[in-house]
Amino acid sequence: MKRTLASLDPAALDGRRALVRVDFNTPIRDGAVSDDTRIQAALPTIRYLRERGARVILLSHLGRPKGGPDPAFSLKPVARALEGMLGAPVTFLADPTTDDAVAETRRLPRGGVALGENTRFHAGEEANDPALAARFAALGDLYVNDAFGSAHRAHASTEGVARLLKPAVSGFLMERELEYLGRALDEPRRPFIAILGGAKISGKIDLIEALLPKVDEIVIGGAMACTFFRAMGLETGNSLVEEDRVELARELLGKGGRKIVLPSGAVVGRELKSDTETRTVHRNEIEPGWAMYDIDPMTEQDYAALIDAAGTVVWNGPMGVFETPPFNHGTLAIARAMAHAMGRGAVTIVGGGDSAAAVAEAGLEDQMTHVSTGGGASLEFLEGKPLPGVMALDDA
Ligand code: 3PG
Repeated sequence: MKRTLASLDPAALDGRRALVRVDFNTPIRDGAVSDDTRIQAALPTIRYLRERGARVILLSHLGRPKGGPDPAFSLKPVARALEGMLGAPVTFLADPTTDDAVAETRRLPRGGVALGENTRFHAGEEANDPALAARFAALGDLYVNDAFGSAHRAHASTEGVARLLKPAVSGFLMERELEYLGRALDEPRRPFIAILGGAKISGKIDLIEALLPKVDEIVIGGAMACTFFRAMGLETGNSLVEEDRVELARELLGKGGRKIVLPSGAVVGRELKSDTETRTVHRNEIEPGWAMYDIDPMTEQDYAALIDAAGTVVWNGPMGVFETPPFNHGTLAIARAMAHAMGRGAVTIVGGGDSAAAVAEAGLEDQMTHVSTGGGASLEFLEGKPLPGVMALDDA
């Protein structure tokens, strides 16, 4: 258990500079934030600190800039979006590693908010350079990590700084993520099923291995099903198959036995285009010249029935090529089935990334027990890996 923001004496926040690592790695389109989910998710922590008179200094990365500052990856649009959401000015720290930036933090009024420019404009961020971590630490009197989405990264602003600036506690979003994901794994209401999708089995091997002993069923979709099909000796046509993982898929099928549930059929297409010719086929009938791009309606129904009978559902990864309709059908069907299951009391947890995007597209965010804001982070958490950004925080 890690020390939380709520455990700090509110009197100890008044007038203090709270350095808060948030994950404002949000999509930017035409110079503006196009999806503010992650900013919204950090507001409870920011508001709590402001209301208690803290000076709030926010740090985040955005994208993966290489080789120094790049205006395309600036957090300025995020500062503007945040101002709108808070209804208060946000001081922008153009270089949060300078003495000027430190002076700015001291000039903030009680309850004032500042946002530093992209932490990844500094090479030391991803290298977890202690000197950079010390520069970041100089911006605050205490450290709060609310960046669950970045908790799997041991970077200067997530890990290094937490070792230098004390107290170092988790924010409300971080707490909520760890609680929901942790409870689903440790005390699941049964039956406990995991829905796993995505293109490649290679990125999900650790997850399958970690979940097999815990779940009642692992329900597979996406192109990764085809690597399993190949392991079963089926023809897969032009479908994406990881040839070098076929043997491993065979081993997983042996180990998982009836726990691993595969699609009974596929929607196949000639090409990966919205207007391509498509067919719905049994999994034994994928012919050369065709590729699986989605699960078929029969599989959708079977999976919806499993979800409906479950006590806990954890979902990570799309069932088809979600970004190319009509191959988003199976993924949206899973989102709807999970929303329905929650309506009758099941615990439904959506990993971040593509699955969270699908839930948002279906407009069902409010009908899930928890939608994680971290794609990579929730994956690593579910794999049972320690998250460096969490490990570095103070113990409760
Ligand atoms: C994410 O979007 O998953 C996080 O912000 C982490 O980003 P990264 O994969 O570039 O480290």
